[in-house]
Amino acid sequence: MRVRKRKGSEEYIAENAQYVVTNPDEWKGKWHERFGNNQPIHIEVGSGKGRFITEMAKANPKINYIGIDIQLSVLSYALDRVIEANVPNLQLLRVDGSDLTNYFADHEVDLMYLNFSDPWPKTRHEKRRLTYQSFLATFEQILVPNGEIHFKTDNQGLFEYSLGSFSQYGMTIKQVWLDLHTSNYEENVMTEYEEKFSNKGQRIYRVEAKFNV
Ligand SMILES: C[S@@+](CC[C@H](N)C(=O)[O-])C[C@H]1O[C@@H](n2cnc3c(N)ncnc32)[C@H](O)[C@@H]1O
Repeated sequence: MRVRKRKGSEEYIAENAQYVVTNPDEWKGKWHERFGNNQPIHIEVGSGKGRFITEMAKANPKINYIGIDIQLSVLSYALDRVIEANVPNLQLLRVDGSDLTNYFADHEVDLMYLNFSDPWPKTRHEKRRLTYQSFLATFEQILVPNGEIHFKTDNQGLFEYSLGSFSQYGMTIKQVWLDLHTSNYEENVMTEYEEKFSNKGQRIYRVEAKFNV
């Protein structure tokens, strides 16, 4: 997903450094200090305009959340929501998901979410998919032992690919939803993309997968 450049994003983010981490390598291994407590840390990679991570942070004050996105303008829209929510357990981070070991120590993250990740349908772009093997190796390193990825998408191709990639990596598929919105999964928090696609009548897939030590 490419979002049109938002004028002044860089300045806006710099002015709000209490919500957006502008020096991420300095916090590696010290995220609990950043939050000022020892609560579990949950991250969303590809958090887009931030609805999911903000709603999760508001609903779960005993968990610390970090929304991560590679695009500056997208992150600036998420910042609108974060400022409005003004909760102490939420931070934003603009980095590439493939580089997370530079910004998190081994086992520093308790759980991670991937929501409506870009599908990159062409085979030659497989390595860009966030559920590709090299991304899984990165995520495994920063997650606690037996850490989990909770993944949602409307894209059947990406979903099937990801199930295969998780099992090829040796992960355990704990639970699968083939039509989340007609299931009895009540704790669902919608993302921007989820609302858009489900309004168009597309079904939403979800999986919880666990790394094995
Ligand atoms: C299709 S959007 C989904 C946004 C949001 N999760 C939602 O469901 O509404 C995918 C997001 O992932 C981000 N993204 C893609 N590749 C990434 C990467 N390697 N690291 C971090 N973010 C990435 C994009 O910038 C984009 O904002």
